[in-house]
Amino acid sequence: MRHTILSLALILIHLHGPGLAQEIQPLAAPLRLPPRQPVDLAQGSAGVVASASPLASAIGCDCLADGGNAVDAAIAVGFALAVTWPEAGNLGGGGFMLVAPAGSEEPSADRIVRCIDYRETAPSAATEDSFVNWTDRRHPRMAGTPGTVRGFESAHRRYGSMPWKRLIEPSIRLAREGFLVDRYLAYSLNSVLSDPLIRDHDRYAEFRRVYQHPSHSLWRPGDRLLQPDLAKTLETIAENGADGFYTGRVADAIDRQMRSDDGLISRQDLHDYQPVVRTAIERSVLGYQVFGAPPPSSGGLTVGLQLKMIESLGLQPQADVPWTVDHLHLMSEVMRRAFRQRAAFLGDPDFSTLQLDGFSDQAAARLAAEIDHRHATPSGELAGDIALTDGPYESEQTTHYSVIDATGMAVSNTTTLEQSFGSLSVVAGCGFLLNNEMGDFNWRPGYTNTEGAIGTSANLVAPGKRMLSSMSPTIVKQDGKVRLIVGSPGGRTIINSVCETIVQTLLFDRSLADAVDAPRFHHQWFPDAIYLEGFDPQAYSGMIGPLQSRGHVVIQTPGRRQGAVNAIEVDLDSGIATAVADWRRGGAARAVRSKPVANPTASRAR
Ligand code: DON
Repeated sequence: MRHTILSLALILIHLHGPGLAQEIQPLAAPLRLPPRQPVDLAQGSAGVVASASPLASAIGCDCLADGGNAVDAAIAVGFALAVTWPEAGNLGGGGFMLVAPAGSEEPSADRIVRCIDYRETAPSAATEDSFVNWTDRRHPRMAGTPGTVRGFESAHRRYGSMPWKRLIEPSIRLAREGFLVDRYLAYSLNSVLSDPLIRDHDRYAEFRRVYQHPSHSLWRPGDRLLQPDLAKTLETIAENGADGFYTGRVADAIDRQMRSDDGLISRQDLHDYQPVVRTAIERSVLGYQVFGAPPPSSGGLTVGLQLKMIESLGLQPQADVPWTVDHLHLMSEVMRRAFRQRAAFLGDPDFSTLQLDGFSDQAAARLAAEIDHRHATPSGELAGDIALTDGPYESEQTTHYSVIDATGMAVSNTTTLEQSFGSLSVVAGCGFLLNNEMGDFNWRPGYTNTEGAIGTSANLVAPGKRMLSSMSPTIVKQDGKVRLIVGSPGGRTIINSVCETIVQTLLFDRSLADAVDAPRFHHQWFPDAIYLEGFDPQAYSGMIGPLQSRGHVVIQTPGRRQGAVNAIEVDLDSGIATAVADWRRGGAARAVRSKPVANPTASRAR
């Protein structure tokens, strides 16, 4: 009943179209992740947005409604997320923005799908050995030189149509006047603030000053979060462009913090930072053109290799269930092989010539043909010339949003601070967090272990180099028109969450809502195990035993959620786009002049 009321409330909000009206949030226990709900849906032909935050999605739609294009809206959403979703939305991080310009079906230079690579770089003081014995991931030393603000500026210069300031003003207002915290943000803030390390350590005093509840209690839905320092930083960026971040007062503050906290980023590193505009990876698969982020993201190549292998295995859908034992077996075999290739070959292409033959269509066919349809291949057998060690596991927040405008221009953007709230280092007086992205390099040269550490050469640390990413912003075209925009957070699981969503929609012909709702699973070569989502005990019922008898180690952690796919699909006949936001981390879909839309996932939520 509560969900029916909530869904009705959401439909009413959609009917009223975008805006900054605050949504009514039912009270929930502030330290528990909100329960499963229907995915959030919005539909229209005048532009749609799906992101992790209702306010950010509304800001994107307002921008489209005011005549902005998809890139304008994506930049506005990105700045808004830095205010409303601080665990991953950022100024002090980086990411990859895939842009598919609108246009005729004729291929031409101005229709090339490009990737704005605004990945962080290693500071000039970082060397191959800087982190060999380093264990503290939540340290300012783990921050790479941030790329987000220059990246957004570069996207705006190339594609933007609205004044830069217009894209930032709504976020300045949200930061200065505050906004009402929802259940997901309350959970996110409470989780980090209740960590004893954050509560008690001097190093996190600025973090506490900025994010702690004014009365030092837990955050509750409906409380107001004010960020006056962040408002000033955003104003400086609105006035001075990216120079307002990379030079002057903000750069000085970063530099001072790095000196006092044993960090590596210098004023020169900030001054020198440049995003790179790259051509997207393009792959013909399953009758579609799949575009993905190129190295230094592993996303485009690895998702593409997996899809090619799946195509050659001829997977068929089965009515009524998202996945069968055969699907899980075969896709896990695909994943383990693709992640082995990722570990062996990928890194920053501007620092070494990457050997990419292992991702070709021929390689995909060969790797797929080696798969035993009845038995798991132990991951160790695939190591080849990668020396393996047995050793302890080193574990590793990111956010993805999708935008399409009325002309069909599409943006798929994934951005991150690496872990939730990055290095936990808030730049004093500036109100934003620095990333801890250096952890995405291979820390220990030569040390690849059975628990997931990778030590291969292409992704070792070097000054100015970009660390390998799993971020997989993806755009799929059919007959030259945008059909699907997809991406997710989740570290290495991103690649598999994106692949599974594409298989569900394009190969199994399910609605995007069902595809996003479907349970997810993950295999990453090492650890040699299939990780099943655990929020729904029924989802894999009767499947674990048969998978074990095929030789798989299967791990299902109760409550585990994989990723948060905020995606868009377009009906090419009607031109209507449907935005779908994942319930797993509280995403929100919004449309310019929305139409009501039936939600096939409503009955599944508990
Ligand atoms: O670039 C990457 O692959 C990682 N830094 C992303 C981290 C991430 O997705 C964590 N979030 N859930």
